Amino acid sequence: MRKKIILITGANGEVGHGLINALAEQANTPDIVVLDIRVLDKAMRAKVHEVKVGDILDTAMLETLTNEYEIDAIFHLAALLSTHAEFNPEQAHRVNVQGTINLLRLSLEQSRMREKPVKFIYPSSIAVYGLPDLNTKAASKPIKEREYNTPITMYGMNKLYCEHLGRYYARHYRQLAATRETHMIDFRCVRFPGLISATTVPTGGTSDFAPEMLHAAASGKPYAAFVREDTRIPFMAMPDAVQALLKLADAPREKLSQLVYNVTSFSPAAAELRDLTASAFSGAKITFEPHLQRQNILDTWPAEVDDTAAEADWGWSPQYDLLHAFEDYLIPTIRQRYQD
Ligand code: SER
Repeated sequence: MRKKIILITGANGEVGHGLINALAEQANTPDIVVLDIRVLDKAMRAKVHEVKVGDILDTAMLETLTNEYEIDAIFHLAALLSTHAEFNPEQAHRVNVQGTINLLRLSLEQSRMREKPVKFIYPSSIAVYGLPDLNTKAASKPIKEREYNTPITMYGMNKLYCEHLGRYYARHYRQLAATRETHMIDFRCVRFPGLISATTVPTGGTSDFAPEMLHAAASGKPYAAFVREDTRIPFMAMPDAVQALLKLADAPREKLSQLVYNVTSFSPAAAELRDLTASAFSGAKITFEPHLQRQNILDTWPAEVDDTAAEADWGWSPQYDLLHAFEDYLIPTIRQRYQD
């Protein structure tokens, strides 16, 4: 019998670390196998059953996983983020789209083998939105899942398309074949806002100004934010992002009326983030030097998203609002990190 596992791709990223920690603490969870292009950080290794270092574009390597394990659920976190992707859009497309198809296909094969759908948990992003101008952004109510799905970035397009691919592999795969698939996949997706972790700094994202500002202040470095002070997009503290993934994964299928759900916590202006950061770290030197193109991307992302469907269907509710995120999670944990 093959060992039953949970597979996490992109496990060495920020969300991956939080997810491994949370899963390792849960009782009755299958062992974790991680896959990342980089070796998993030492601190994490004891918490997982196996570390595969490899590329999600390497189908031969993915096949060995299928042969070795029974995969119960996949958290497919591997991706090139929005800023990074604009420097190499075709590579981003390969990783973000072909990589996702490879994992969807693997899930489908596993679902057939075990005659039960594999849960495929997919983080999408506010980058799937593309508001036409700042007036529309300012005048909009919190944006619902199907509004303004006209992203301007390669990453946003990749995420939006992969949401559709998830729906295809969950409901319509080879719909004209003589014999219908009996076991497709159980695709579940959350659209994350910008994420702020106290323990890691992201790379390659456009929402990175918030975590960069905080981590710079905590480590006593000056920081020039690449945005205007009035820039407003939704954010969430990392522990809430991890809880959103776990909660959605645990929800009974029949309660889920959508495949894709917005989740959000707070939407501060960049100046508010500066103020909160500066009041926690008295010597903080934070300035604003907007980068025109990165700013332009942020101006197309909504100020607020509507997450009432997630709340109604699977009881989503963030633990941290803005003040609590700073006071109870970010500031104390970051302080500790840079003291050590
Ligand atoms: N944090 C991501 C980025 O900035 C958005 O999902 O690319």
